[in-house]
Amino acid sequence: MLRRILIVVLAIVVLAGGGFLAWAWHDELPAEPRRDASAYDPAVVAKGASLAAIGSCAVCHLAKNSPSFAGGYPVETPFGVIYGSNITPDRDTGIGTWSPAAFRRAMHDGVDREGHHLYPAFPYDHFTGATDTDLDAVYAYLMTREPVRHDVPAPQLTFPLNIRLAAAAWKLLFLRHGEFVPDKSQSPEWQRGAYLAETFGHCSACHSPRNALGAEKRDEKYAGGIAEGWIGPALNAASPAPAPWTAESAFNYLRRGFDRAHGHVAGPMQEVVEHLRQANEGDVRAMATYIASLNGVAAPDAAAKAEQAVKNATSRQWPIPGRETTGSGGSSTTGLDGAAIFAGACATCHHDGGRLPISRPVALGLSSAVNGADPRNLLQIVLGGIHPAPNERGAIMPAFSGTLTDPQIVALADYVREHFSGKPKWNDTGTALEAIRRGKNS
Ligand code: HEC
Ligand code: HEC
Ligand code: HEC
Repeated sequence: MLRRILIVVLAIVVLAGGGFLAWAWHDELPAEPRRDASAYDPAVVAKGASLAAIGSCAVCHLAKNSPSFAGGYPVETPFGVIYGSNITPDRDTGIGTWSPAAFRRAMHDGVDREGHHLYPAFPYDHFTGATDTDLDAVYAYLMTREPVRHDVPAPQLTFPLNIRLAAAAWKLLFLRHGEFVPDKSQSPEWQRGAYLAETFGHCSACHSPRNALGAEKRDEKYAGGIAEGWIGPALNAASPAPAPWTAESAFNYLRRGFDRAHGHVAGPMQEVVEHLRQANEGDVRAMATYIASLNGVAAPDAAAKAEQAVKNATSRQWPIPGRETTGSGGSSTTGLDGAAIFAGACATCHHDGGRLPISRPVALGLSSAVNGADPRNLLQIVLGGIHPAPNERGAIMPAFSGTLTDPQIVALADYVREHFSGKPKWNDTGTALEAIRRGKNS
C-alpha cells in the first residue's frame, strides 16, 4: 500500500516537474540582420527616448566610463548581484541581433533572445504591462544608439538561484502577464499616469515592501519599500509627508527634484528625477496626478492641508542661538548634545523656514526623511549631502560623513527628529547608522 502511494506521489512530482519544464521552455528566436538607423522613424525614436527616460533604463544599464546602455551596473538584491545587460545594438555583446519580437518577449516575459530566463532584478514584472507599440518605440530608440562592445559579468548568485530556471519558478508564482488596464472611471490624464507609473516607471518597485522571495507585496502596494540602503517612502495613505501630495507638488518633485512643501530629492530617487527631466512633460504631469491620488486625500483638501503643514513646520524652527543648546537636545543614548551639533553644523543653512532671503532650504519639519518611522534617509542625507548631477546646477548640501563622528551623527539625527517632526523618537538610529556603514543595503 505504502509503495503504491509512493509511486503515485512520485508520478505526480515527475509529471509536475515535466509540466513545469515544458512551460518554462522558450525557443530561441532567429537573429535579425542589422538595420540602418535611418530605417527608424525619428518621431518613434523620440517617443522611445521619453519612455526609456521614464523607465530609467540607463540607471541599471550604464557602464562606468562607457556610454549609456553598455551595461555592467551591479544591481544589488538580497540574493546576490545581477549586472545590467549590454542593451546597445552591438551584435556580439549587446542586443544587435534581436528582432522587435525578441525585445517584446524580454520586456513582457523576462526571456532573452536565446530563450534563457532573466532574473526579476530586471523589472519586467512592470514592463510586462506595456503596450507593443510603446515597446517598439523603445526598441527603435535602443537600436539607433551607438553599438558598444562590452561584456557584462555573470550574475553572482548561489545555488539554486544561479540556475536560470529559478527565475521561471519565480515568474510562475509572481508574474502577472498582460497589458496594464487602468481604472476607466478616472480622468484620461490619471489613466495615462497610472499606465506609465505602473509599467515603464516601475515606481512601486522601490515604494512597496517585498516578500521573502523578493516580489512586491500586492496588498501593500506603495506602503513604503527599500532601495539601496534608502527608504522609498510610502506614497499611499501611510505617507510620512506632513503635506499631502498634490498633482502640482508631485510634479515639482518629479520634474525639478524640489517642492516647497516637501524639500529636495536625494539618493536613488535623484537618479529617477534626472531621467524624468528628459521625459515628455505631459507624461510626467500625468504620473504626478496619479501619484497624488494614492494617499486618498481629495484634491481640494490636499492643497489646504499642505498649506497648513507648511505653516506648522515653519513655526517649529530652530531657536535663536543659545536658547536651546542644552536640556531637550541631549540624547540619552549617546550623551551628546544634538542641539549643539545642529547649531554648529546645520543651522547656518537650516535655521529658518524659507522666510528670509530666497535659497534657504525649506523647513526640515516638512521632509519625509525627518518624519518617516525609519531614520535611514536622514542619516543618508547627513552622511552624503545633496549634490546636483554632474554638469548641472542645483542645491548643494555638504556631506558630513567625514566631519562628524558616528555618535555625533546619531545624537544630531535624534535631535532633528524630536525637534522638527513632533513625532515619536527613533529608537534605532545607532543600529541604522551601523547598517549603512557596513554597506548593508537591503
Ligand atoms: C532596476 C534595474 C533595471 C532597470 C531600471 C532596467 N533594467 Fe533591463 N535589466 C536589468 C538587469 C539586472 C538585467 C539582466 C537580467 C539577467 O541577467 O537575468 C536586465 C536585462 C535587460 C534586457 C535583456 C538583455 C539580454 O541581453 O538578455 C533587456 C532587453 C532590458 N533589460 C531592457 C531594459 C529596458 C528597455 C529598460 C527601461 C525601460 C530596462 N531594461 C530597465 C536591470 C534593469
Ligand atoms: C530605485 C528606487 C526608486 C524608484 C524606481 C522610484 N523611487 Fe521614488 N523614491 C525613492 C527613494 C529612495 C526616495 C526617498 C528620497 C529622499 O528621501 O530624498 C523616493 C522618494 C519619492 C517621493 C517623495 C516621497 C516623500 O515622502 O518625500 C516621491 C513622490 C516619489 N519617490 C515618487 C516616485 C515615482 C512617481 C516613481 C516612478 C516614476 C518613483 N518614485 C520611482 C526610490 C525610488
Ligand atoms: C551649506 C548649507 C547646508 C548645510 C550646512 C546643511 N544643509 Fe541640509 N540642505 C541644504 C540644502 C540646500 C538642501 C536642499 C534644498 C532645500 O531643501 O531647499 C538641504 C536639504 C536637507 C534635507 C532634505 C530635506 C529638505 O529639506 O530638502 C535634510 C534632512 C537636511 N538638509 C538636513 C541637514 C542637517 C541635519 C544638517 C547638519 C548636519 C544640514 N542639513 C546641513 C543645505 C545645507
